[in-house]
Amino acid sequence: MSQKIRSLKGTKDILPQETPKWHYVQRVLREVAETYGYGEIRTPTIERTNLFTRSVGETTDIVQKEMYTFEKSDESITLRPEGTAGVVRALLQNGMLNDAFPVKLQYDINCYRYENPQAGRYREFHQFGAECFGSADPLQDAEMIAMVADILDALTVTDIELHINSIGCKECRPVFNQKLTEYYTQHVDEICETCKERLKRNPLRLLDCKEPQCQPIKANAPHTVDYLCSECKDHFDGLKAGLDALDIPYGIDPEIVRGLDYYTRTVFEFITNKIGAQGTVCGGGRYDGLVEEVGGPATPALGFAMGIERILMVMEACGAEFPPTIQCILYIGSMGKKEAAAALALAYELRKEGFYVLCDTMGRSVRAQMKYADKKEASYSCIIGSNELETGEVEIRNMQTGNTNIVKINSEEFSEFLWSELQSQVIPHDHGVDIGDVMGLLEHKED
Ligand code: HAM
Repeated sequence: MSQKIRSLKGTKDILPQETPKWHYVQRVLREVAETYGYGEIRTPTIERTNLFTRSVGETTDIVQKEMYTFEKSDESITLRPEGTAGVVRALLQNGMLNDAFPVKLQYDINCYRYENPQAGRYREFHQFGAECFGSADPLQDAEMIAMVADILDALTVTDIELHINSIGCKECRPVFNQKLTEYYTQHVDEICETCKERLKRNPLRLLDCKEPQCQPIKANAPHTVDYLCSECKDHFDGLKAGLDALDIPYGIDPEIVRGLDYYTRTVFEFITNKIGAQGTVCGGGRYDGLVEEVGGPATPALGFAMGIERILMVMEACGAEFPPTIQCILYIGSMGKKEAAAALALAYELRKEGFYVLCDTMGRSVRAQMKYADKKEASYSCIIGSNELETGEVEIRNMQTGNTNIVKINSEEFSEFLWSELQSQVIPHDHGVDIGDVMGLLEHKED
């Protein structure tokens, strides 16, 4: 036997027992965003490298250390480390700025960053995000944050806090950078080598440093909010008033500067202490200069992204509920080739009606078939043998109670039986899930 090939470090298989949770979370994310007017956009996983160097920023950790970049036909290509840059590129390429403002887009994507893997931090991970173009009003920032709060509420996530900050604009940022440079210059012998470089090239990134030796310096560094110009200050006040009006609790956190260069004014994160060191479930903010940077007209914009792995982790950690998974309603067993073909035909018809039905396709003994039905937790089972084919009737057994019923072997009779049985069962109706969903019924039969 040759050696098994294993998955890459920092990547994960999502197995069938986990995917229902993913589907549920992704459905809630999409549906809440739809109620705020966000249409879904799907962009390629690969983009030209310079899209990310230009937007995320040359001096960020993402661009300097974490991108998966390769050459093909003399072109430098990168697996997207995040979603915003690709959405901005697509927005411009497809003339979407001609649509009515604000243009609102949501996405659900996989991203790639060559980071040191740990709980909640992967090299391939998934983001749900939203981007809004055309509004400079702080009420738009408040609405976007409200959408995240709504999503977390719908997913019954507790123990999570909203942190906000403002990092100013191209008018006031240089003033702050000057202060920050002066401060760090006094401590240049105490900071790490990367920070020495940051000090020269992009001082705001100093506040991103995770090196232990830089933490005491960072703790006493000046705060962006103390150097905002009057427009940025008004904008930040507008955001706070908007959040107050919506009764959304928040804390002002001067340490939040975000790890990407495109942000201006509002930045925010939803942070939990329930899932270890990687507790930022959602991060976002305003990026009023990015559309222009990527070659479009000056357009105010903002957005956020949340890591789906981290949402699932915090949901598990705080005991959030997931809807019940789809169950097999019927196992149609058989004895003999002709009978197996009849069972398959019956299953084929019932599946067209949306029932989750299994039958034997392995020529197994009845005993083995019933064992399989048991493992699959089928609610009902029957066995078609030569006798049953002759009489055209079969006994259906409730796998839990052992009760039996005789039903004619045709899809109408079976379907009628299964429906009447379903209606007599008590199935939780939470999360907008109905009997049909739980039993794998795609359409509702009309009475
Ligand atoms: P980000 O903070 O880099 O922002 O990522 C957003 C979220 O993605 C994080 O809060 C986290 O939940 C998740 N995430 C990031 N890296 C990893 C990783 N290695 N493993 C697992 N989860 C991870 C952005 O990406 C911006 N594009 C957000 C944005 C959209 N800003 C404006 N619009």
